[in-house]
Amino acid sequence: MTISDPPVRSSRVTAYADARAALDQPLLVPEPVADAADAPAGSLAWLRAAVARFTGDTRAHARQRAHAVAELARLDPRELRRAAAGSAVGADDRHTVVRILAEELGLPGPDAVADAVMTVSAGYFGSELTPTQAKAVDEAIASLLARTAQGEGVEDLEFAAQRIGLLVQACDATARLVEHARRSAPDGLPPGGADALLAEVLRHDPPVTALRRRALADVRVGALDLRAGEVVLVDVTAAQQDAPAGGDQADSDIGTHDDPTPLAFGAGPHRCPGQAQALALAAGLLERDDPATQVTEAVARVLDLAATWTAWDGRPLAVDDRVYTPHKAIRRAADHLVDHLAELEARLAGQEPQPDHWHASATTTPADLASFTTEDLDEARSRLVRIGRIWADRLEALSDAQLDRSPGQGWPFRLLAAHVAGSLDYYAGAVGRFGAAANPEE
Ligand code: HEM
Repeated sequence: MTISDPPVRSSRVTAYADARAALDQPLLVPEPVADAADAPAGSLAWLRAAVARFTGDTRAHARQRAHAVAELARLDPRELRRAAAGSAVGADDRHTVVRILAEELGLPGPDAVADAVMTVSAGYFGSELTPTQAKAVDEAIASLLARTAQGEGVEDLEFAAQRIGLLVQACDATARLVEHARRSAPDGLPPGGADALLAEVLRHDPPVTALRRRALADVRVGALDLRAGEVVLVDVTAAQQDAPAGGDQADSDIGTHDDPTPLAFGAGPHRCPGQAQALALAAGLLERDDPATQVTEAVARVLDLAATWTAWDGRPLAVDDRVYTPHKAIRRAADHLVDHLAELEARLAGQEPQPDHWHASATTTPADLASFTTEDLDEARSRLVRIGRIWADRLEALSDAQLDRSPGQGWPFRLLAAHVAGSLDYYAGAVGRFGAAANPEE
């Protein structure tokens, strides 16, 4: 039986409390995969039976999920965001998402991995497949297994299944989130940028709208009395609208108590472990559509942090073998903007960019160590906003072809913009937020 077969009896859950109770209840498990015992490694039945996503057995699930979480820990959301923001337009977002993840995981042939994962996702969630489709899916999984398995032992295979599983989980859901966000903001990013837009879309138009569970035994959850074998369908959109205003205060497995999207990534033991990576990839893809805003938003984020630096205590901050101070962060932000703008202009003019003589973060000058006054903040604001505006005006005047197949040696300009925006966040983040504003909850 596949999950698309009609269940004997089913309930639809729309109340937030019932949804949480259902997803937290260990006797309610994802649809078990039938006929998987003899499934050969590398087949769809094997994959569905081996991944954390569909495993109801508590101990097996914990082990499989731990593998997935360990792999996810290797995926730095900032790197994913930058890679997505610098990716070329025109490719299928699903392909881009998986290719970036495969690249960051160091898998061989990231493009081929992405092609295979897109094929697999057609059958992974249990849809009926024609024999031709089923064959293509099995072949794609076999090719992925060859690229992800580090050996042939039982543990190697289970680990490889989690790697494949997280790529397939990421594929459609992340691209759908981006699609919903574009639909919600057809004229480009709103104030607050990609992060604010994604939070809004996840609450009102989530990409995963239904979560299915089957009762292993008779069980009462929330207001529901369920019989063994009964299927429960959690309506994510409806249940989220019913969530307590200001978030679920009793929730400990959701990072922040005021998470406005308490169910968009699931809940309970199967809650999505890839939320940070998903948000980073989606934000990067949205920013990629609009590299000019990407740069001006990054400038705005620097200035938001810099507004707290007048409370700096004078002690330099050590980050990644370098030392940072407010003045140094502003210096690096401005110099990096100027440096790559000069490169971009030289390449557009058919000239060689100036050779690199910057001392950059390797040096800390006496001026870097000075206190950061409100006058300094004002000057920084005027300086950075203007340079950001020059960048934005220049990027807005370029076509997609110029952004992605840019003249001269070096990165495409879209990637250059993502790189500069990412570096601004890095420099400002190295100093961070100071004073009372650093701990708004206290
Ligand atoms: C916007 C994008 C995404 C959304 C909305 C989403 C949503 C979800 C949801 C709702 C579940 C729980 C399913 C259930 O309880 O039945 C889930 C599970 C999972 N997700 Fe995501 N996901 C997204 C992206 C990602 C990404 C980028 C990754 C990895 C890089 C990922 C990896 C996983 C894994 C491994 C599971 C299974 C966890 C388990 O069963 O223990 N997801 N996701």
